[in-house]
Amino acid sequence: MSTTTGHVIQTPSAPASLQSNDIFSAFIAGGIAACGAVTVTHPFETVKIRLQLQGELQSKQVAPRLYKGVLHGVSVIFKNEGPGGLFRGIGAAYIYQMILNGCRLGFYEPVRKGITTAVFKDANVQSLGVNIFAGASSGIIGAAAGSPFFLVKTRLQSFSPFLPVGTQHGYKNAVDGMSKIWQSEGLKGLYRGVGPAMIRTGFGSSVQLPTYFFAKRRLVKHVGMKEGPALHLTSSACSGFVVCCVMHPPDTVMSRMYNQTGNLYSGLFDCLFKTIRTEGVLAIYKGFFAHLARILPHTILTLSLAEQTNKLVRRFEARVLPSAVKEKI
Ligand SMILES: *[C@@H]1O[C@H](CO)[C@@H](O)[C@H](O)[C@H]1NC(C)=O
Repeated sequence: MSTTTGHVIQTPSAPASLQSNDIFSAFIAGGIAACGAVTVTHPFETVKIRLQLQGELQSKQVAPRLYKGVLHGVSVIFKNEGPGGLFRGIGAAYIYQMILNGCRLGFYEPVRKGITTAVFKDANVQSLGVNIFAGASSGIIGAAAGSPFFLVKTRLQSFSPFLPVGTQHGYKNAVDGMSKIWQSEGLKGLYRGVGPAMIRTGFGSSVQLPTYFFAKRRLVKHVGMKEGPALHLTSSACSGFVVCCVMHPPDTVMSRMYNQTGNLYSGLFDCLFKTIRTEGVLAIYKGFFAHLARILPHTILTLSLAEQTNKLVRRFEARVLPSAVKEKI
């Protein structure tokens, strides 16, 4: 969501001469869009992490409630720590987005082509299932590659001189955090929590496009909406909601694994079971609304943008490409 979430809408493959240029401009455009969305929604991400960590492994009766919800969280952080408090870890968030975005663009087409060729004996066949699989696996690769940045980001965001939750590492910035982890724990420390991070992104990436297309079809059929920005906005909002529902439990596990320094949980399922046992089932949805406030704008922006760039690509092809090439596409 970008998110962190997979947002490759299938564009017909262009001839080789166009492709590298296309990928480069897609990388830049996608990167700018993702970082723009991250900037706007980062305060909610900060609140989300503090909500997910607050009261960890404590029963509801004794758990502190320093942050009471999305709006309370934003206002309390703003009051105590200023805008800088809400934007802790934004540098690491940008780097993570660029890595994720780069991996999606770089791995999507090779993975799609490889599987399509193996299954259909023809790389040009477009299969929704294969495309979704390629989107999800390239997202998972990106999540694994970018995990150290997400780890440092999480720790920077949970740091607060006023209402602290989680381990207070006191890193100065992303680079300082990463070098401190590298010195004390090595590679293993940097890749702490990479499992839930991959699962979280895999869940989100594989659900996003199918729900988007599903919502779109239903809205056209039952509500009578026409192709256009309003339809894109509504369908992407539906998709964002579902993405948040499936992504949030592994996201909570991830935040908690990122917080620990190695003694609380032995792994993903251990964290999940301990959390449910001590805090109740709903604990895995702590911070859900903060997450939603982050994912909705992100999904709406990236999916609507993808529709627009797709339209541009199609218009460009209709005008420039000779019909002989078009028939093959
Ligand atoms: C964060 O991690 C530390 C160290 O592993 C642990 O003691 C603590 O309970 C965790 N959670 C919070 C909310 O501090």
